[in-house]
Amino acid sequence: MRILSVSDSDITLAAEALKAGLLVAFPTETVYGLGADGFNPAALARVFEVKNRPRFDPLIIHIARLEGLELAADLDSLEGEARKKTGLLCGGLWPGPLTLILPKRGAVPDLATAGLATVAVRLPDHPAARKLIARSTGAVAAPSANPFGRLSPTRAEHVRDQLGDRVDLILDGGRTRVGVESTVLDMTGPVPRLLRPGGVPREKIEALIGPVDIPGPSAGPVNAPGQLKSHYAPRTPLTLHRPEEMAVLEYEAGAGCLFFSGESRDRWLRGIPGAGPFPGIRVLSGGGDTTEAAASLFDTLHELDRLGLFRIRAEEAPPVGLGPAINDRLRRAAARS
Ligand code: TXA
Ligand code: MG
Repeated sequence: MRILSVSDSDITLAAEALKAGLLVAFPTETVYGLGADGFNPAALARVFEVKNRPRFDPLIIHIARLEGLELAADLDSLEGEARKKTGLLCGGLWPGPLTLILPKRGAVPDLATAGLATVAVRLPDHPAARKLIARSTGAVAAPSANPFGRLSPTRAEHVRDQLGDRVDLILDGGRTRVGVESTVLDMTGPVPRLLRPGGVPREKIEALIGPVDIPGPSAGPVNAPGQLKSHYAPRTPLTLHRPEEMAVLEYEAGAGCLFFSGESRDRWLRGIPGAGPFPGIRVLSGGGDTTEAAASLFDTLHELDRLGLFRIRAEEAPPVGLGPAINDRLRRAAARS
């Protein structure tokens, strides 16, 4: 495995590697992706192997520009209203952390979509990612660059540490800006369905296209298999707490506490006799902002995971903005424990 920069010449090199069927991890605005040429079945098969990901869990095809959408998706087979809404979302929120589920084109190998008649497409808001995609075949399949079920990578080092030589190249673009994966929205039914809360808040989507459905846990077949209950998990067992519970937790040496805001941490500290240091204490956003908290979520979990704590106790975020995406990841991390 080689780590490259995001200089122009390194991106060209990485694009050539993709075209040759190699796997290239690259930064997006959300998390690092494990990229493979979206039209190359052998490379796609390797993605599943390297991540140890079940073949029934389909991948997202990343495109470099709006015109690239037609490479993977067949918009003509969308019903009129859905087509109109898709246009509004692409125009208003792309490039950005929004993945759309659309009817699939035949050119996309079944392996990428796990045999589904739909395909997930996203136009990332990251210059290096878009250059890389544009210089390869224009369609790059990329799941998050972590072993299946583990914490998503927000830095090149996370990819290196978790995947090592199983990946051919890593483009190092520093820490990712948004920090949680894209919102996944299924456009193929009568009402758009939010399959995964992510980097674009529901409010922003609804402001553009009106109400979206949030399928309950038992609503029909698993259509975003990434929604498996246990996912995004650190090695350290994690428990999730409401703010009221968190405020009155006793201090346990060797346990970590992940607070949503500086205010919650201070409230907790006031109830603890004696002064620190408390090594495993972290705050996601000093000022209690959900966007800032999302940006540091996986980064902080990776960091806490390295401290050898016996437990991480995490506080729920308020359910606004990126709060639902944060809580979704924390709940899945807790499900493993
Ligand atoms: O932000 C992101 O989306 C990152 C970066 C690298 O772009 N990628 C990412 O990919 O999170 P992954 O593979 O970890 O998650 C993709 C999600 C999974 O939950 C998968 O089940 C769902 O998208 N998905 C993919 N294709 C689908 C389809 N045709 N129908 C329903 N869900 C689909
Ligand atoms: Mg993932």
